[in-house]
Amino acid sequence: MKVTVVGAGAVGASCAEYIAMKDFASEVVLVDIKEGFAEGKAMDLMQTASLNGFDTKITGTTGDYSKTAGSKVAVITSGIPRKPGMTREELIGINAGIVKEVTENLVKHSPDVIIIVVSNPMDTMAYLVHKTSGLPKERIIGMGGALDSARFKYRLAEALEAPISDVDGMVIAAHSDTGMLPLFSKATRNGVPVSEFLSEEKKAYVIEETKVGGATLTKLLGTSAWYAPGAAVSVMVQSILCDQKKMIPCSLMLDGEYGESDICLGVPAIIGKNGVEKIVNITLTEEEKAKFAEAAKAVREVNGDLKF
Ligand code: NAI
Repeated sequence: MKVTVVGAGAVGASCAEYIAMKDFASEVVLVDIKEGFAEGKAMDLMQTASLNGFDTKITGTTGDYSKTAGSKVAVITSGIPRKPGMTREELIGINAGIVKEVTENLVKHSPDVIIIVVSNPMDTMAYLVHKTSGLPKERIIGMGGALDSARFKYRLAEALEAPISDVDGMVIAAHSDTGMLPLFSKATRNGVPVSEFLSEEKKAYVIEETKVGGATLTKLLGTSAWYAPGAAVSVMVQSILCDQKKMIPCSLMLDGEYGESDICLGVPAIIGKNGVEKIVNITLTEEEKAKFAEAAKAVREVNGDLKF
């Protein structure tokens, strides 16, 4: 099955690489607006095939969407990333126009496509795709929670001085520094609540470092991260193509779930061959419910800046 990745930059190329390395897709088509860039990235990646042992074909195109026709999944990573000190929300002006145009081109050539939205501010960009693509809501999925949960697990393992495979945890709500909600109450070490092991001070550290995880990397790298975002997307694409039905927190259009409607926010969902197979309702504490509602309010304000 064919996967299109729009934007052959840092995240798009990393995502294409992880998908190819896992060898579950027949073809990955990279699309970029910069002349020759996607073709170059595709050629470079293809020259790793014999070294890394994969058969996935990777091709590139400068904006010729006919090459993307018949894609099962399309990932939108096109747009600008943030620079140190910027919030994701500040990217809306440029990225909204790009995401809208890219969505139209994708749907024209692959009407049955499932779209994974990565470009920031991601919850708002996912909302924009819902409002402009005409696709059913099950086929539009925002990537944020998969990455933020991986960062949460990294910080949990660090605080617990445990191997990452020992810990489990999930981040829901908004993909923003303030609106992220790491579900500490449900995080476990081999099934045991992590609160059994961590002091209040360590708990606060884990939560704060998870929320600013992207900003920390942006400061270190001078631009936003790409390895973990690419890997997070590849897990979502694999769950769809291989119908794995993994439960992954994703930014989805809500219709009453978690007390919210007409907004895309991160919630756990079963992801399979049809896209979103089911939104999973988990019980939140009163404090978590209040934080979820606060995140929704902030995302709604950013959505208000969209022009369709
Ligand atoms: P990048 O600058 O390395 O790559 C973006 C690519 O998009 C560039 O190659 C550019 O030429 C291309 N592009 C721009 N307009 C285009 C158009 N109309 N059609 C096709 N291609 C176009 O940026 P990077 O680091 O890959 O980040 C991409 C986006 O992903 C940013 O908005 C960033 O904030 C977001 N991001 C989201 C994450 C998430 O968890 N949702 C995580 C990391 C990044």
